[in-house]
Amino acid sequence: MPRSVPVARAVAVLLVLALAACDGEVRRGVAGAAGVRDPYFPKAGNGGYDVTHYGLTVGYDPEARRLSGEAEITARAERDLSAFNLDLKGMDVESVEVAGEAARFSRGGGQEGQELTVRPRDDLDEGAVFTAVVRYSGSPETITDPDGSEEGWLRTADGALGLGEPTGSMAWFPGNHHPSDKATYDITVTVPEGLRAVSNGELRSEVTKRGRTSFAWHVGEPMASYVATVAVGEYEVRRSKGEGVPPVYTAVDPSQVKESRSVLARIPEVMKWAELNFGPYPFSSVGAIVEREDDAGYALETQNRPVFPGAPSVELLVHELAHQWYGNSVTPKTWRDMWLNEGFATYAEWLWAEDHGGDSAQDVFDALYRDAYYDTREASDAVWAFPPAKPPSAARISDSPVYQRGGMVLHKIRQSVGDDTFYDIVQGWAAAHRHGNADTADFTAYVEKKAPGVDFSGIWKDWLYGDGKPDRP
Ligand code: TRP
Ligand code: ZN
Repeated sequence: MPRSVPVARAVAVLLVLALAACDGEVRRGVAGAAGVRDPYFPKAGNGGYDVTHYGLTVGYDPEARRLSGEAEITARAERDLSAFNLDLKGMDVESVEVAGEAARFSRGGGQEGQELTVRPRDDLDEGAVFTAVVRYSGSPETITDPDGSEEGWLRTADGALGLGEPTGSMAWFPGNHHPSDKATYDITVTVPEGLRAVSNGELRSEVTKRGRTSFAWHVGEPMASYVATVAVGEYEVRRSKGEGVPPVYTAVDPSQVKESRSVLARIPEVMKWAELNFGPYPFSSVGAIVEREDDAGYALETQNRPVFPGAPSVELLVHELAHQWYGNSVTPKTWRDMWLNEGFATYAEWLWAEDHGGDSAQDVFDALYRDAYYDTREASDAVWAFPPAKPPSAARISDSPVYQRGGMVLHKIRQSVGDDTFYDIVQGWAAAHRHGNADTADFTAYVEKKAPGVDFSGIWKDWLYGDGKPDRP
């Protein structure tokens, strides 16, 4: 039908012209959602845009407990937007600009009050890259999690510490605070001269002017906001560059220097072992921040530079460094996929012990399976309380089924495929989703693809998703 071609083309041209004429009059952006429907933290994150970079410039005065900040957020609109939300808890917002123009804004989000709604002067077009600048200040809050632990902004003996798992980063900067939206960062922190500010990534500059020192940190690889950190205080800093390991930067509270020295000296050794087991390290630098024991209730795998309250054991160091591959580079799509973080980091501890003259992973597995199976004390019963891929509530996402039973899922896979394929899977998984996000379904599909002859359905059913204890050992 040769004639129909020019006709179709003419109709198409008219349609395009008609649509173009309507643009800006008929078509209206909609407001982005106030959450990304996380099954455990429904208000976390926001719909309609994707952040590519955070430029955070904050000043903190520990004596006044006052933080003032400017967050320059570069993002891409995923649809036409008339408004969008950022997550920020507490703090006073002084101004918001979008694309260089003052934007209206309001605070809300009910009891939790974590929503900052921004209405740009002009709608944002789908696909447009825009910059939002938020100026804010106040005394950042400590947030109590559903499980009772404390995160957000913690005051330490000599300064402060920002911890963000799962939602604490909204205490010190506005952002799209959900693990599904990763971005690069520049974090510049200004503190009174004499103190230091330590963050993620690499230290680009350190400048003292009129009694205040600014530390500029650069994170060039994608980072989820829950592993962003700032630590302010007095620290003994050590830098080292060794053959075949990323540059190491450690910052240790003066009271912890002696106790931490020997374990932190093992970072290069742990990194070499980890690269052998998990594949190439996904980031440009590594290290640790050691605070005092009372400064935080737990260790956290903050990107590049995990935080420890007091000198860690080598197993805890291994755990938090393993998270750099599993958690920080391969990041869960939602908080339901936590076992992909904690099961792997726990299994890394078992592998470390196995490779260093301790119990084998099989021994640990057997002890948990056999002994804990028949042991009805609360502590061992807890392992079977729920399946790792289905925590019953937000308060339980860091309970032992996510850690130990998660590790046991990995051991069941290893038993079924043998060591060669198992290490292929562990390394291939880190490579396939490097700097990305993945969920449990992605993982089971990946394992099945790597071992096509093996039937994993029993493992998924009994160990990953099933309620109650698996069959008797
Ligand atoms: N991810 C930390 C670790 O295993 C533990 C942790 C701290 C955590 N806060 C959390 C786990 C909140 C889940 C939710 O080293
Ligand atoms: Zn962990």
